[in-house]
Amino acid sequence: MAIRVNGTEVDPPEDARVSLLDLLRERLQLTGTKVGCNQGACGACTVLLDGNRVLSCLTLAVQADGREVTTIEGLADGDGLHPLQAAFIEHDGFQCGYCTPGQICAASAMLREVTEGVPSYVTADLAEEHITLSREEIRERMSGNLCRCGAHNGIIDAILQVATEKAA
Ligand code: FES
Ligand code: FES
Repeated sequence: MAIRVNGTEVDPPEDARVSLLDLLRERLQLTGTKVGCNQGACGACTVLLDGNRVLSCLTLAVQADGREVTTIEGLADGDGLHPLQAAFIEHDGFQCGYCTPGQICAASAMLREVTEGVPSYVTADLAEEHITLSREEIRERMSGNLCRCGAHNGIIDAILQVATEKAA
């Protein structure tokens, strides 16, 4: 089997203890994915596994065998920025930028979760088919991604803009 990383097949590590985060950063030099806490608390290492957000520091690389991994390097469409990347720039959704790859990967999966009707802790009506993405919803759904620079207001503005454009 092989792991598809941003469309390219790579061999899984022989050592089953290697995390997906270490495979990406240390072996494939995809350093866009960041190491924060390395224990599942900050979200800096978030990537997409078959389109779902996962914490790569808590995911073994062998768990991605036969599956598709997308990192921040693979999110853009060719040379064009992903709409979330452009919106983060427009709304000052970052300062140092360290949390940004994880924020953007998480947000891209989160927007799909919303369109699929996945409720959050603050969704009032669990049977609601079309969830309105309020600031409160975004705060809750992005609460696993911390920003030590405190850029959360810009992050929410950026995500809200992309969600509004998608809904238009
Ligand atoms: S580095 Fe993975 S959650 Fe912090
Ligand atoms: S922009 Fe610095 S940690 Fe978020």
